[in-house]
Amino acid sequence: MIWSGKIVFAFLLILCINSCSDIETNNEELIVTEPVVASCNIIPKPEHLYADSGFFQLNSSVVIVVDNRFSTVQELNNEVEDLQNFAKNKLGFELEQNSKLSNNPAIYLSIVTDGFLKKEAYEISVDSNIINIESMHPAGISRGLATLKQLALLNKFEGNYFIPNVNIMDTPEFEHRGMLLDCSRHFFSKEVILKYIDLLALYKMNVLHWHLTEDQGWRLAIDKYPKLTEVGAFRTEMDGSQYGGYYTKEDIKEIVTYATKKHIEIIPEIELPGHSQAAIAAYPYLSCTGNQVDVANDWGVFKEIYCAGNDSVFIFLKDVLTEVIDLFPSKYIHIGGDEAPKVRWEECKKCQKRINDNNLKDEQELQSYFIKRIQTFLNAKGKQIIGWDEILEGGLADGAIVQSWRGMEGGKEAVKHGNKAIMSPTSHAYFDYDLKAIDLEKVYSFNPIPKGLTNAEEGLIIGGECNMWTEHVPDEKTLDSKVFPRILAMSEVLWSASDVKQKNYTEFNKRLQKHYTILDNYNVHYGEESVPMTYFLKPSQPGPYMTLYPYDSTIQLKYKLECESCDTNFIDYKKTFRILETSILKVQPYKNKKKYGKLIEIPFHNHLGINRNVNYSNEYSEWYTAGGKEGLVDSKLGTLDFRDGSWQGFWGSDLECVIDFEKANNYSSVSANFYQYSNSWIFIPEEMSAQISNDGVTWSNWGNTSSETDLKQRGKFIKTLIINHNQTKSFRYLKIKVKNVGKVPSWHEAAGSDAWIFIDEIIVK
Ligand code: ACM
Ligand code: ZN
Repeated sequence: MIWSGKIVFAFLLILCINSCSDIETNNEELIVTEPVVASCNIIPKPEHLYADSGFFQLNSSVVIVVDNRFSTVQELNNEVEDLQNFAKNKLGFELEQNSKLSNNPAIYLSIVTDGFLKKEAYEISVDSNIINIESMHPAGISRGLATLKQLALLNKFEGNYFIPNVNIMDTPEFEHRGMLLDCSRHFFSKEVILKYIDLLALYKMNVLHWHLTEDQGWRLAIDKYPKLTEVGAFRTEMDGSQYGGYYTKEDIKEIVTYATKKHIEIIPEIELPGHSQAAIAAYPYLSCTGNQVDVANDWGVFKEIYCAGNDSVFIFLKDVLTEVIDLFPSKYIHIGGDEAPKVRWEECKKCQKRINDNNLKDEQELQSYFIKRIQTFLNAKGKQIIGWDEILEGGLADGAIVQSWRGMEGGKEAVKHGNKAIMSPTSHAYFDYDLKAIDLEKVYSFNPIPKGLTNAEEGLIIGGECNMWTEHVPDEKTLDSKVFPRILAMSEVLWSASDVKQKNYTEFNKRLQKHYTILDNYNVHYGEESVPMTYFLKPSQPGPYMTLYPYDSTIQLKYKLECESCDTNFIDYKKTFRILETSILKVQPYKNKKKYGKLIEIPFHNHLGINRNVNYSNEYSEWYTAGGKEGLVDSKLGTLDFRDGSWQGFWGSDLECVIDFEKANNYSSVSANFYQYSNSWIFIPEEMSAQISNDGVTWSNWGNTSSETDLKQRGKFIKTLIINHNQTKSFRYLKIKVKNVGKVPSWHEAAGSDAWIFIDEIIVK
């Protein structure tokens, strides 16, 4: 297409204003006379940005020139290569490197000797013929290139890239901006890791915290202990299939080299003393009992951990860590330290001897001994340790960095002790959590600096991470949908001002909308920003009223009820409707005419108890209410997601409640669904019994049923307990008693803790 100069200019002027300042205008005569302070939609938001009119056209005639006044040209070879690869792979043309000034439009990369306080700080200035990126370090040049890449991808028009004339001075708020990727629960290929390194760099994150060892899989080849991968990298799933995989040393070297070139630090995590069942499956002598165990094939916390009393364990770990050190140039090694049950240590002669010999108080101090011994070894090799906040228990070693995950308290305690901390609390940073718990706005509201610290203590908080645990993330698509777009909010929290006052979610969200085309370009299967829909259920006889709420006005809802007499087509949701039959409500949200999020399915069961008054003898949990007092008679059933809002929980107590039908009537059965997921201490109850009355004072038995469930059965499942009679009986009050198993059984890793009952509905017929 050939444009007349005037039209091109008018278009580009508007393009530049729109891309940089978000001034919406149709006024073709608008003339920019003043520089506009604006965002250019860059994420994370730069510290200072001044946008001018005009643009730099990025195409194959542009050359890259490395300014060699203060550095050798070779010092920026990686950055030049990175820009060339980007142009080739993402923009579709080659960029030549020139050794000296040329008349062509050029991108200058310059290492300078002053002007910046931090290594990743940079300045980029764009005018119509020259782009200049300056920093005191190649890492800063690389961050400047990330800005340039975004500007290019955000300003594409008909195959041409127009970089708006801007001047950006930018610097990170925090030095540690990370993402944890758990490749043990599920294994992700080398290609996925490389894609994530690209994306981390594009959004100016600088740490990949690589979780490589777990109960469910050891993912890293170690020459001296080949069974770690031969045995430990594979598990037999519950259906009998084999699952697994690992990275060879060649893979690791390739990934580390790739990341280093993009100034992404890879911090390997080698879990100890807990989360080590895969290693123990490979080498049973590492545990207290020495018994053969399998690589775990279920999620949770397992009691088989490294024996702290056996010197061979320390020899093993030192050998492993020596090979790890050779593979990873990072000055940090993450040693885990979280969730290590102490039951084996309590029963182990060697562990108890270690406690006595070293005058330790208890198993907590033994854990601290364990960590410190590993830390001493690693420090001698020039490495610093990072550990989860459990490493505070039993005494924190000097120099250890604490990664706070059980809230922010661990991090606070660490910095008060003079140690550094990384913040990744479950409240804001756990990207395995559902959007119901942590949506984009929640991530954006994260402030890694908690209240109540001195300036010096605040300075010890070196940054934060988002944690991507993968128990329920079997593939790349699911991974992408959990990480994106939430990580863009995290990147802005950690790079740009963390102070809540300086952040504006609405403005961030507007910029974010422009980034979906970039994510498409990087083949990212991003998920939603928030739960697309919430609803309000008003229990009522003979069926509840349902009101649906799209998250915002950009989302439309279509729904249908699936039942015997229901219409089979989806219809646009307009107003509250009623559910009068046993049915499944299906709702599909849409945004920009495309499906937005998964089909939502909510099952309902119509019965005679709906919206009756329920009086409880003991309280249900404030965390699992099923919607409150009517939760067990609202007709809504639970799904296999026990956090779906339909389940009512009783922790350590029985359930006893009375349903009042207001007047006597005939009934023949009562049933209820119960949930089991032993990893979360939820067990099918032992027994359910029913009593009936007409005055609420004198009661007669109406039957009981025992569950006879195997409490050891792993996984999540639902079981219905039913009390059924051939003949109806007339009564006004129905009392239901459900007997909790009480304590978590002795074979369980959490033996002795209070067990849960989860129930969704009391169905009366
Ligand atoms: C953790 O989530 N167990 C660190
Ligand atoms: Zn032991």
